[in-house]
Amino acid sequence: MAETIPIRLGVNVDHVATLRNARGGFHPDPIRAARIVIAAGAHGITMHLREDRRHIIDSDVERIKDLAAPLNLEMAATDEMVGIAARVKPHAVCLVPEKRTERTTEGGLDVIAGGTALQDAVRKLSAHSRVSLFVAPDAAQIEASRKAGAAVVELHTGTWCEAVMHRNEQAAAEEFRKLSEGARLAHALGLEVHAGHGLDFRTAELISTLPEIAELNIGHYMMGEAVFSGLELVIKDMLAAMARGRARVGRAA
Ligand code: PXP
Repeated sequence: MAETIPIRLGVNVDHVATLRNARGGFHPDPIRAARIVIAAGAHGITMHLREDRRHIIDSDVERIKDLAAPLNLEMAATDEMVGIAARVKPHAVCLVPEKRTERTTEGGLDVIAGGTALQDAVRKLSAHSRVSLFVAPDAAQIEASRKAGAAVVELHTGTWCEAVMHRNEQAAAEEFRKLSEGARLAHALGLEVHAGHGLDFRTAELISTLPEIAELNIGHYMMGEAVFSGLELVIKDMLAAMARGRARVGRAA
């Protein structure tokens, strides 16, 4: 069995930016969220700069540089993104497949089909960042990631989380077996092993039982839960603001 290594939490703040962009202003600010995330004990911030800038925008990536915490920049292996990463020099870059029509990253990278173009991107990015490839827990893709020169693989947990959510026990057990074997193989090949997509409290606990996994990257579920953790306080603060206003009625402004 692999020696147990500490496990880190990287928090994806894309959905704070989604909410901000719904009104096109400045609130809620993903950088303010990132400060809270780090103060609460998380180990790093993940941002996905998409080609269509649907959530994180270029100025977010510039502004996050002032935060004293590692940035994991998720991006497609395009010339534009490789150029931005060369300027920003994030701690880590996670290469993901990207389709304009998808709601979120749907599958892992096809590292084999990526061929020399992908290898070239990994080589350029490795000059300033730790490069991670987001792959399905598939032996051929993990081996190809090693050959492509990546330092890290992030195993796609989405299929497993879907099966757990739909209580499809057989599929969940099969996917978990793949994740477990994939983590072992990647670790044996000398790759650092991360995992992410679709994780919630339960699946994060279960995946943390795999001793080779060094980092989880989680976003959507935690931002959803944060609404419920914070809503009561915000309602009380708003009622207090309204009451203060009413108390001023009839007084000089
Ligand atoms: N890891 C990668 C590579 C991703 O693309 C995403 C989604 O942006 C995540 C982790 C986080 O997934 P979720 O928001 O479902 O927790």
